[in-house]
Amino acid sequence: MHSFRYVRGKLFCEGVAVESLVKKFGTPLYVYSQETLTDHYSKLDQALAPLDHMICYAMKANSNLGVMRTLANLGSGFDVVSGGELQRVIAAGGNPKKCVFAGVGKTEEEIEFALRKGIYSFNVESEPEIARINRVAARLKKIAPIAVRVNPNIDAHTHAKITTGTYENKFGIQFEHVEGVYARASKLKNIKLHGLQMHIGSQLTQVTPYELAVKKVAPMVKTLAARYGFEFFSIGGGLGIVYKPALASGSAAWWKSSEAKGIMTPATYAEKLVPLLQPIGLRILVEPGRFIVGNAGIFVTRVEYVKKTGKKNFVIVDGAMNDLIRPAFYDSYHEILSLSEKKGATISSDVVGGVCESSDFFCKDRELPKVGDGDYLALLSAGAYGSVMGSNYNSRALAAEVLVNKTKFAAVREREKLERIWEHEKIPAWLK
Ligand code: LLP
Repeated sequence: MHSFRYVRGKLFCEGVAVESLVKKFGTPLYVYSQETLTDHYSKLDQALAPLDHMICYAMKANSNLGVMRTLANLGSGFDVVSGGELQRVIAAGGNPKKCVFAGVGKTEEEIEFALRKGIYSFNVESEPEIARINRVAARLKKIAPIAVRVNPNIDAHTHAKITTGTYENKFGIQFEHVEGVYARASKLKNIKLHGLQMHIGSQLTQVTPYELAVKKVAPMVKTLAARYGFEFFSIGGGLGIVYKPALASGSAAWWKSSEAKGIMTPATYAEKLVPLLQPIGLRILVEPGRFIVGNAGIFVTRVEYVKKTGKKNFVIVDGAMNDLIRPAFYDSYHEILSLSEKKGATISSDVVGGVCESSDFFCKDRELPKVGDGDYLALLSAGAYGSVMGSNYNSRALAAEVLVNKTKFAAVREREKLERIWEHEKIPAWLK
């Protein structure tokens, strides 16, 4: 479900016309719906209700403080991948004790900070990392809770750049090596073996790879849990969303139509996985990012020019790949709508930004309504891996972000001031 729909020909986010936000905050602009965030979190929470479970929102998908506070208020924990993300959890009012810390490259400083904050678990990705955590914990006279991230070597059949559960990737510890790693780690004085974790990839739209991975890993989790007294098993994130077509009609109908198309929903995910997970008898963690926030956000951009070449119709907008890099990076599809509904003839168009790269595009050869200077376009499903992957390439300021709650709205990130981009740069004395 999401809360972006046309009302009398104008695109609304909940009870607010997106055009009015554009007038107030300008473009490029990210707009998030609090109702959608809440709905997605709650749908998953309800589906997992038969299990002792904890949702650790993968904040790498969208770490805006307003988004994070919405989820913290719902009781969410967080999956963090850096000391910076953990600091953000605290800044957003989240609970570090509900945080798991993933990532292959944790530094000493990050480990120390996480230990001092009392995080729930380190999800470790190598033996040298375990040794390092043990060393830092000993220095601080603390016991570090850890879970090994098992790489189950299951192909999630998703985009090559976002699959993580096969031996081609840098992530986790090979399935066959895991028991030995726990045996060696169990001898370390400042380590507590707290659980086991896996994450097989992102944007999974079918439940089958999860089933295969859980079936493969479950016997090992049970054995190790009995041996070392585990508290949890994390099955990672990765729940996919519908990018195409992305405009919702009604809540219940939308979920049903996803199910009819065979696309995994929280209900179908839980239906298959709960019976496999329940007998394990541990707390189950999930780390969804995209599922919670993907369809809760849109990216709004203004049409600057329309340019026809011999072969193409280019719609040139004020947003660019530095704001939303997913099409350039993954060839990903984002539905594009005009803020004012247009029902007339369409024209095959490339929507492109002003950055000096051929890969700076939002779509290619897409049938879109005719638009011109001053029209506004919305790219849907832009809530996840949108603003967080923004950059200052071409000295472009980061976009503003707005959170909507029914008829209320607030800037949750102001548009970046240009001078801030070079604030930390210095001209050496010898050049002055
Ligand atoms: N847990 C771990 C250990 C992860 O590495 C990730 C994502 C997640 C959870 C959350 O995955 P999600 O539920 O959002 O699929 N930038 C890419 C996606 C990269 C995903 C990285 N890891 C994109 O725009 O598609």
